[in-house]
Formats: sequence, structure tokens, C-alpha cells
Amino acid sequence: MNGKEADMMPFPATMTVLARGQERFNVYCTPCHSRVGNGAGMIVQRGYKPAGNFHDAKRLSEPLSHYFYVMTNGYGAMPDYKAQVTPEDRWAIAAYIRALQLSQNATVSDVPPGMQVESLSSIAQKEGDPASYAGPWPMPSTAVTARPQTGIAAGAPAQAPGPNAATVPTGKSTTGATKTPPARPSGAQQ
Ligand code: HEC
Repeated sequence: MNGKEADMMPFPATMTVLARGQERFNVYCTPCHSRVGNGAGMIVQRGYKPAGNFHDAKRLSEPLSHYFYVMTNGYGAMPDYKAQVTPEDRWAIAAYIRALQLSQNATVSDVPPGMQVESLSSIAQKEGDPASYAGPWPMPSTAVTARPQTGIAAGAPAQAPGPNAATVPTGKSTTGATKTPPARPSGAQQ
């Protein structure tokens, strides 16, 4: 507020606001940030720069207005969303991101008395999902981990990278590939 970031928003985060934030987040943000906000959305899996993980220490300590600011102005490789998302909806999304953060970092003591907590692995087993469903969700090998030094857009053929250089996906062509890419993680997506 007054040019400074603050952990507050201009209207209360009611359930209606959170539901609106969830709906807008799923439309505009999940392609890159994923439904849980870990930064490994579908576009990242296809070779975009990993989007910020909302559950790391840096992001957990950000005030609410930071999310509003990032949506309004863009951030690094992320475009701004001020034309697509109204100011009210940007606050609703910010509130929803905070709810997502709480959901991913909750402990059993956050659960109201009388509620049963079931582990994700036992839910996965009951639902007939593979065990990897409940496992950690690693950043896919297809994510671009550094911007190409040469300024060529990701997707253009990589110039002979050094042994430690980040690999740039070579697009759809499989014919010229000398190495088979590592297998995709089989964990839950989106
Ligand atoms: C086209 C992909 C894309 C979309 C869509 C997208 N982001 Fe991002 N976002 C990124 C990338 C990439 C970064 C990391 C930017 C960097 O480090 O250069 C990022 C970073 C962030 C960060 C972290 C900023 C920090 O403090 O480190 C926030 C917060 C964020 N995005 C929020 C959102 C929200 C909210 C939406 C939906 C309105 C959204 N993003 C949509 C790609 C995207």
C-alpha cells in the first residue's frame, strides 16, 4: 500500500472470493504454475522456464500484494495479466494462492477436531491410482533451466552445448536427435 508491499487486500477474502480466485487461477495461471502452484504446469513441461513454486521459502514469505504486483506488472519471464484479469480478480487470485500455500503446508494440528485425515498414498491406493501419484512431483526434464545465452528462443536447435550446459529442447524433430531424452516422470500432472 502507498507504493509498499503489504500483507493485506482491499476487501475480505470470503469463500465466494476464494472460489472466484480458484476459477481464475485455474484459467490463467495453471498452464505454467500447475493446479497446486509448484511451477511445473503443462507449458513448463513443454519447455518453458519453470514458473515460480508458490511453496518455497521465498514465496511463502511474500505478502499478498506481491501476487497482485506480479500479475499487474509481470515478473522476469512471466508476462503481465493486467489486460486479462481485472484488479478484483487479481486480488481474488492472490487470496487463492495464499489458500493453496496453506493447503500444501498444513499439519494435522490445523485439522478441526473430529475430522479424519487420510494419507495421500492410502487414497491413491483406494482409487486405484499408481503409487507415484502420492510421490513428490519433480520438475520435468523438458523444462528449460536457463535462458539460452545466444538469445535464440527456446525451441530453436541448441548450439553444441558444453558438458554442463543446459539443454534446449529441439522442438518436434526426432530425426536429428543423437540422444533419447530421459523418460518423463510418471507422477500426477496438473
Ligand atoms: C506463460 C507462463 C506463465 C503464466 C501463464 C503465469 N506465470 Fe507466473 N511465472 C512464470 C514464470 C516463468 C515465472 C518465473 C519468472 C522468472 O523467474 O523469470 C513466474 C513467476 C511467478 C511468481 C513468482 C514471483 C516471485 O516472487 O518469484 C508469481 C507470484 C507468479 N508467477 C504468479 C502468477 C499468477 C498469479 C498467474 C496467473 C494470473 C501466473 N503467474 C501466470 C510463468 C507464468
